[in-house]
Amino acid sequence: MAVAPAFDDQQPVPNHVAIIMDGNGRWARARGLPRIAGHKQGAEAVRSTVRSCKDIGISYLTIYAFSSENWKRPASEVDDLMGLLRLYIRREIASLGREGVRIRFIGNRSRLDSDINRLIVEAEENTKDNTGLNFTVAINYGGRQEILDAVRAFADDVRAGSHAPEDISEPLLESYLQSQELPDPDLIIRTSGEQRISNFLLWQSAYTEFVFTSILWPDFKHEHLEQAVQEYQRRERRYGGSGD
Ligand code: IPE
Ligand code: IPE
Ligand code: MG
Repeated sequence: MAVAPAFDDQQPVPNHVAIIMDGNGRWARARGLPRIAGHKQGAEAVRSTVRSCKDIGISYLTIYAFSSENWKRPASEVDDLMGLLRLYIRREIASLGREGVRIRFIGNRSRLDSDINRLIVEAEENTKDNTGLNFTVAINYGGRQEILDAVRAFADDVRAGSHAPEDISEPLLESYLQSQELPDPDLIIRTSGEQRISNFLLWQSAYTEFVFTSILWPDFKHEHLEQAVQEYQRRERRYGGSGD
């Protein structure tokens, strides 16, 4: 018999959920394991979360896999993380593609190894006609950098004569963001007990609901996603209005 979900299935679920997957290092440390063991287990949590989103009826899932500030970590950990990303994309492309998932990547690609860039392009290309879950992975992503890049691209277009400076507007700036094809996130979840945004989706999260959980990312399961959706359903989104 199917177990009733924790959330209210008569109420809308968030259309776009974004996740700051944090706590891999602490998960490993608690077990006396190297940090990479936490990252590996974290990759498993990503796989199951993709499936959970499909079950729950969430249309967009965006995950923060590597921030533009994560290069500050020891070279050995950066190498491990890049190795894991390479493995993950290679292994998942085919199965996600078969399941109808459309994969996109956001973040600055210029500092990524060329083989990772090739995998990214291949994954996007292979899944571009899929109409199931929209799954976006943020790699070497920083919200401030994304906005700066958009402003630079707009300035170039002004210089080239295709825009006038006074054309700038919210929709026009959004059209220069890497997230241009994604709706703003309705819900951002951060695991591991930290309560900050760490340069994730700064522009896009102007009216996003936040749910913080103390669960470490490698332990994140379907039930935790359902609980976050339930918490989201209890919120009243006002967008600056009076709520009447
Ligand atoms: C999140 O886990 C994964 C990345 C940021 C790549 P952390 O590696 O930040 O884990 P903690 O915060 O040290 O526990
Ligand atoms: C945020 O986690 C980045 C990712 C989850 C990829 P961090 O662990 O890097 O964030 P801070 O340094 O604690 O803010
Ligand atoms: Mg962390």
